[in-house]
Parts: sequence; C-alpha cells; structure tokens
Amino acid sequence: MSYPYDYRPIGIFDSGVGGLTVLQELLVRFPQETFIYLGDTARVPYGTKSPATVQRYTIQVAEFLLRQEVKCLVAACNTASALGLPALRSHCTTPVLGVIEPGCQAAVGVLPGGIGRVGVIGTHATIASAAYARTLTLLVPECHIRSLSCPLFVPVVEEGWTSYPSAQLLIRESLQPFIDDPVDVLILGCTHYPILKSQIAAALGPKTILVDSAQAVALALNRMMGSGIVLPSAQRDTVRFYVTDAAPRFREVAARFLPQLEIDSIEVVDL
Ligand code: DGL
Repeated sequence: MSYPYDYRPIGIFDSGVGGLTVLQELLVRFPQETFIYLGDTARVPYGTKSPATVQRYTIQVAEFLLRQEVKCLVAACNTASALGLPALRSHCTTPVLGVIEPGCQAAVGVLPGGIGRVGVIGTHATIASAAYARTLTLLVPECHIRSLSCPLFVPVVEEGWTSYPSAQLLIRESLQPFIDDPVDVLILGCTHYPILKSQIAAALGPKTILVDSAQAVALALNRMMGSGIVLPSAQRDTVRFYVTDAAPRFREVAARFLPQLEIDSIEVVDL
C-alpha cells in the first residue's frame, strides 16, 4: 500500500536564537524535511519569567506555527518545554515534542549500569520547575539528581565570548558544585549550552558524560516520525525563519549557532 507524501513543514520554536542548536541537529538528521523556525525575540528570555507567563507565550508561539499548518511541533526551548508543554499538549492535537523527555532518556541511556548520579543545568525557570528531576525519577526512581541554574552561560554564548579565558573561569565557578562532587552524567538543559560543550567538559573532566538535549531531540523526532507522522522523500527546501522582533543582532548571533546555514530572509510577525 502506498501513502501520499506529507510535505508539510516541521514547526520548531524557541524564545530566541538558542533553538538553532536543535534545528542544526534536525537538519542533519532530516535532510528531506522542511522547517519553520519561530524565535520569540520580542520576549526573550523565558528563563527568568514566571511559569504562567512562559505557558502563555508557549501557547501563542505554537498557535502561530499551527496556523502555518505544520505536521508536528518541536519545542526547542528547555524553559518552554519545562513549563509550557502540558498546557500545549492539551491545547492542540498536532504531535508536540519537547526537549525534556528526550534529554532524560538519553541521560539514562548512558548511565553506567542504568543508575547513578545525574546533574541537570538550565535556566532559573527550568531548574525551579523541577521538570527534568520529575521525568528522570519516573524513568529511574533510584537515580540521584542534582540541579543547578547557570544563567550566565546564555549571554556568554550570545556575545561570542565562548573561547575567552574569562568564560572558562565563569564556567568553572558556576559548575563548582559538580567539580567538588561530580556526577556521572550532566544534562545540558538549555538551548545555548551545547555551544559550550567543550568548555564544560574541560571544567568537569572526563568522568562526567555530557548529554546534549539537542541531539536527543533529533533521535526522539526520528522515533516519533517513524510512527507514521511523515513519509519519506519529501522535497528539500530552505528553512523559513520568523521572529517576533526585528532584533538587529539575530543574524549575527544566529551565525554563531549555525554557521553553515544561509538565512535568506527573516520575517517579523506579531503573535
Ligand atoms: N532557550 C532558553 C532555554 O533553553 C534559554 C534562553 C531564555 O532564557 O529564553 O531554556
């Protein structure tokens, strides 16, 4: 039996530019797909906002993408995934994938013997939500979880300071609890942190395995699409970019996240 191809795009959203780390992984894994990326640049950061506000923003950005007739939604933003996903899932029938569950599954997958000490780093809002800790506990009730917010990592990445000695110092100081008392696995629970992967690895040493949620999302989407949402051989097209504010530095910062992607045009939309 043959099915018609599903040519609809995949919708992916973030509070700003950080979701490009997830988009990058999706572009590698799904070269046949088309994407619509929405960055809520007018209201970034989400990581310092209250749960009610993040929830409202998440529904609004998702509604915009649903109007573009996407076949599924990827919440690339950890904060939106942590605080907005349950509300979003009950709001729409389109399949929604966040970053929390894939990140936790990947962490459990690399834990020596399936149990051990897991660290989670993210924005203030993600860590306060305890979404990672709850999900990990459901997967492995006996694993020992410690969470830490690292809010200064986001500006380090956006300002392009990643290779400065001062950035390495800041990373070391922020991660001191995990240097003093190491974990087996550390989940990079924020869109920006994969850009600092080598610096974080240098601070923690080789015994801590780093889990990149962006890579885990690509694997999870592969599983989700395997269940029949998309069919193979869709045509390749460029990514369509939308933002909610014509932030002058979006292109410049985006180039740091995704240097190999030419962004032709970015459309400003009002949610
Ligand atoms: N994208 C956000 C996240 O992954 C980080 C930036 C923000 O605070 O909005 O949590």
